[in-house]
Amino acid sequence: KTAIIIDTDPGQDDAVAILTALGSSRLEVVGISVVAGNVPLELTAKNVRIICEWAGRPEVPVHAGCERPLLRPLVTAEHVHGKTGLDGVPLHEPAMPLQQEHAVDFIIRTLRERERGTVTLCMLGPLTNLAMAIVRAPDIVGRIREIVLMGGAYFEGGNITPSAEFNIYVDPHAAATVLACGAAAITMLPLDVTHKATASLARIGLLRALPNRAGNLAADIMTTLERFDVQRYGADGAPLHDPTVIAYVLQPELFSGRKVYVAVEQNSELTLGATPVDWWGITGKPANVNYLTTVDSDGFFRLLADNLSTLP
Ligand code: BDR
Ligand code: CA
Repeated sequence: KTAIIIDTDPGQDDAVAILTALGSSRLEVVGISVVAGNVPLELTAKNVRIICEWAGRPEVPVHAGCERPLLRPLVTAEHVHGKTGLDGVPLHEPAMPLQQEHAVDFIIRTLRERERGTVTLCMLGPLTNLAMAIVRAPDIVGRIREIVLMGGAYFEGGNITPSAEFNIYVDPHAAATVLACGAAAITMLPLDVTHKATASLARIGLLRALPNRAGNLAADIMTTLERFDVQRYGADGAPLHDPTVIAYVLQPELFSGRKVYVAVEQNSELTLGATPVDWWGITGKPANVNYLTTVDSDGFFRLLADNLSTLP
């Protein structure tokens, strides 16, 4: 089994990603660290616990993390995910507790306790928690197996400003810290690939046809997302951004990309959070990122359906 920590800000597509991970027999979800992003921390921390309970997994340790980005005020995305962060499905009051330990401490402790090179970090939101952990305990960097993050945009343009993708824009300083940390493997799933991982109404129908509740919940969430994104982008279905992270960990051969140098714009008002990619090696700087641009979207969706089908 691959040991993973999921760091997340649910978030409708985060919810589908977490359910997919919890449904996989090939992943050990060591714990979930929560960050402010799509909605404030109080709601994201509650939503993660609701999602674990949907999956029948109330024993998964859930750790609340940073309430705001390193330097900037929090920017949220209720216009996409709704006031609760999980529009489109009925929400209950979760019974499972939050852990006492802060998410940043949890990340550091886990990486130090586990054997070096065995824990993969699945980053589904702004990168605040991981940046804090790296600054506080730089020794953890060499212990990480891989950082797989949903964030950034280059060929596609941005989704929160014309030049920036939401997760990077919300905490560009954290993103810059993570991309420059020197970890042996950082894989990035930018909008350039997630805009190809779409849930069309036909694909959503496959999930709705699953005999379990999780399939239906995922279908309901995707239907709400579909309405927003199809209106905005005129695409054939809504991009399932965050589930691509879990899919990559489970089946990397569904994706392709290039090892490149990527940095984060931290100063300009106009292009804050932009992630210019040195696609042609112009800077001569060594590659720091495996930057993915293509996905086998049918295979991706089959993987989601297979893993979701094992849940209650
Ligand atoms: C990212 O932003 C969030 O709204 C989604 O959950 C995803 O992580 C896409 O830009
Ligand atoms: Ca997210």
